[in-house]
Amino acid sequence: MRGHHRKPSPNKVNANRKIAFSSDTTRPFLRFFSPSIGGNPKDPIERVKADGAACYHLAMEKESNLLTPTSFIYICCQQGVESVVKTEIAKNHSELSFAFSRPGFVTFKVLPPGKLALKFPLASTFSRSFGWSVGRADGDDGATLVQQIVSSNAAAHCRHIHVWQRDRAVPGQRGFEPGETALAQAVGQQIAESEVFSGRDVAVNRAARPDDLVLDVAIVEPNQWWYGFHYVSTVAGRWPGGVPFFDTETEVASRAYFKVREALLWAGITIQKEDTCAEIGSAPGGACQFLLEAGATVIGVDPAEMEPEILKHEKFTHIRRRGNEVKKKDLKDVKWLFADLNATPTYTLDAITEIVSSQHVDVTGLVLTLKMTDIRMAEEVETIRKRVSQLGFGVVKTRQLAFNRGEFALVAVKDKFALRSARKRTKS
Ligand SMILES: C[S@@+](CC[C@H](N)C(=O)[O-])C[C@H]1O[C@@H](n2cnc3c(N)ncnc32)[C@H](O)[C@@H]1O
Repeated sequence: MRGHHRKPSPNKVNANRKIAFSSDTTRPFLRFFSPSIGGNPKDPIERVKADGAACYHLAMEKESNLLTPTSFIYICCQQGVESVVKTEIAKNHSELSFAFSRPGFVTFKVLPPGKLALKFPLASTFSRSFGWSVGRADGDDGATLVQQIVSSNAAAHCRHIHVWQRDRAVPGQRGFEPGETALAQAVGQQIAESEVFSGRDVAVNRAARPDDLVLDVAIVEPNQWWYGFHYVSTVAGRWPGGVPFFDTETEVASRAYFKVREALLWAGITIQKEDTCAEIGSAPGGACQFLLEAGATVIGVDPAEMEPEILKHEKFTHIRRRGNEVKKKDLKDVKWLFADLNATPTYTLDAITEIVSSQHVDVTGLVLTLKMTDIRMAEEVETIRKRVSQLGFGVVKTRQLAFNRGEFALVAVKDKFALRSARKRTKS
């Protein structure tokens, strides 16, 4: 269970902490083979490794387009950003009209009906996951709730079941981290054991593959479960509730370990051993820890102290200065430039602009964490994206990651072929 272990402070250096570097960045996923959770990596579920995440491909022909759009969609998001999601949807989706909201969960009616494609894209930085809403199951008895869900058309056709609880707090606060809960897993198992699935192979809370049909169950309240479905069309759509499978009990230098890991997975960037990465705002070192585990050479730029374990890593260099004081020549080999400053987005972008405009620097891409000291800053996302694209980055993506807190991630690459998904599309 999450939430019962010591959480790393985002900024404090603990000289006694021993960080265990892992060279196997897929390690946390392996727990899904645990018999206690009921996973069986063998037939008929074939385990494949793709996009850095363990996922389960059901070894049967894919069924697509069996379901038709409903009248409503649901969106899950971080607690406290529901109003931002509503604003984004009002601006970008004239076919959607707000219907219902609870912290971290919002629904919209499709008007006129049928206006949205079955595999619709959603233009929203602050939506964590989304899909078609089929209905709401109410009741105090689990079996009754399960019965309402399994009698739906979605249950009749899906081969993946994703069940999650809406966030009970803001990520990183009061020990809360998003992700799998015992209740969600138990509900998923109960659904999978229902009559409708007998003789069918179904995976519970495992990463689905593109185009897989997923039955979604959001436990909004213990006695109120919303259910629906989605066809996987985005990276985050592969994960239950849009949260990647991280073992957040791993000892890390800071939560930034999970933020960077999620940003890279979501954006489709694989850090290679021969890559050089630099992070502006690197202390105490969670992000650097992840990049070092990936085998990269890492330069951390920060006037503050780094974790001793990071500092003594042979592939790590600490430049103990502010971003604007660093000699650009020291960044000449940098392929991926990261920034995670406790400063305004404008300050961060100024620092990045100064670096990438230097004749000595030629980065492939940026991975930025942009802080929102005020929720109204969310309105600046579009302006920020434009500013980064004017720096010569052809692809600019933004998302409030599951592991972000009062901030969002921006990933930009000069050439889309730097991203795994683009390379794959070209190959096929
Ligand atoms: C949220 S923490 C960074 C966490 C870090 N990325 C990690 O992985 O642990 C923000 C950091 O930004 C640093 N910082 C603030 N202004 C800076 C600047 N102008 N240049 C470099 N670092 C700066 C602070 O010293 C602080 O350590």
